[in-house]
Amino acid sequence: MDSSLPAGVRRSRLFFRKPLAALLEEARGENRLRRILGPVHLTALGIGAVIGAGIFVATGAAARNVAGPALMLSYAVAAVTCVFAALCYAEFAAMVPVAGSAYTYAYATLGELFAWIIGWDLILEYGVASAAVATGWSAYAQGLLAKAGLVLPAALVSSPWRYDPAAGSLVGTGALVNLPAALVVGAVTYVLVRGIQETSRLNTVMVAVKVAAVLFVIAAGLFFVSSANWRPFAPYGWTGLCFFGHTVAGQVDPGGKPVGMLAGAAIIFFAYIGFDAVSTHTEEARNPQRDVPVGIVTSLAVCSILYVAMVAVLTGMVRFDQLDISAPVSLAFKARGQGWAEGLVAVAGVAGITSVLLVMMLSGPRVFLAMARDGLLPRKVFGVVHPRYRTPWKSTILTGACVAVMAGLLPIDVLLHLTNIGTLLAFVIVCSAVLIMRRTHPGAERPFRCPWVPAVPILGILSCLLLMFSLPVANWYRLGIWLALGILVYFGYGRRHSVLGRASGADPA
Ligand code: ALA
Repeated sequence: MDSSLPAGVRRSRLFFRKPLAALLEEARGENRLRRILGPVHLTALGIGAVIGAGIFVATGAAARNVAGPALMLSYAVAAVTCVFAALCYAEFAAMVPVAGSAYTYAYATLGELFAWIIGWDLILEYGVASAAVATGWSAYAQGLLAKAGLVLPAALVSSPWRYDPAAGSLVGTGALVNLPAALVVGAVTYVLVRGIQETSRLNTVMVAVKVAAVLFVIAAGLFFVSSANWRPFAPYGWTGLCFFGHTVAGQVDPGGKPVGMLAGAAIIFFAYIGFDAVSTHTEEARNPQRDVPVGIVTSLAVCSILYVAMVAVLTGMVRFDQLDISAPVSLAFKARGQGWAEGLVAVAGVAGITSVLLVMMLSGPRVFLAMARDGLLPRKVFGVVHPRYRTPWKSTILTGACVAVMAGLLPIDVLLHLTNIGTLLAFVIVCSAVLIMRRTHPGAERPFRCPWVPAVPILGILSCLLLMFSLPVANWYRLGIWLALGILVYFGYGRRHSVLGRASGADPA
């Protein structure tokens, strides 16, 4: 090996790996984030990122059009998939406790090109997920405003398009923009620029509110459950598996999209996204090696149990084909004549969804920060930490602007699907990276070890792929376009400015 290379750097240009020692060293340099988060904060951040639009909003359309009451099992299937990925994330988060999440893990294991792909993919995940969540927020907020007698003009409350399952395409709604969705993104961006401490405090309060709301729905809703509503249990079947548009198992809807219990799991997988956000805050953790795995695994376990119970209650309260699509949880209480509970749940829904938005929008700029430090993105924009607030303020504002545009213009189902496929791909790469790292760095210190390797990472890869194939084919195309764009940016900028590449002295061309 070339002696000018830093220890651990390999020759092959595209597959340079960032040495573990260099990652750990970076965590001690300048432009550091403050280390103030403990295990309770981190678990709260996880729950804050997880329970949101996926349960308060997506449940309605998924039960109604895709899975029926079997949606409760869809939530269980998605939870199991996430457990496999969570264990892999936890191993990495403890081993490489710096900002950047899966991007950083990939850089240390699979090399620069894969790291770039995963970083680019995470930008998509967090950006599009934030827009989807803001759209869900808008639906609940409008419900509340309407209760207070304030109805906004129709042109300003929804996306100009919506997905029509019968036509299998987007059709016009006559609206101009989803203004509440864009405005909430602006407000959250402001809070995020002001700093992690404030954000974390606000988040902890909102997490308490939404966990209380979910427990309330489960406890109060139980009184209105009628087991007749659970029959038929799986009206769309148990599967719903397609391979690039060709049905492999189960049924499809008139628009050609797969339906069934498994297809439901692929859609509501969105509800679990966020536990991985804990790992993007490793650099702000007081004791990352212990607390980050605890935060990831605890938040996922709590959310899974709450979800399955809540969907069981919801589909027991209202027949699946009568569930509302935009605010199913609060309107289930209305449908059972409990107007007081409807208002209470709507308030908690708004608070809960806001906290998801906070964490999602907090995470994207931290991935940018890690990529900018490595020279793969311009440092002057993405690598700057505010001198007083210690937050990556420029990229937070830029992210906020892009998310506001998407939230204002795109319909929620398009945003949901795109988020899911991007996240599932990130999980596949993280699970693969654990397998590779165990071979290439068997002796590295692993404060948390993923159990039953290789079985857990392999099951993680397979279950994520299964869910990816249960998503409508258009998402594969959208993901492909996004990744192709990413490759262009990499070869146009990142490859030439890569810190590791420059240190190697290799010709970037
Ligand atoms: N899991 C998050 C939600 O459901 C993204 O809103």
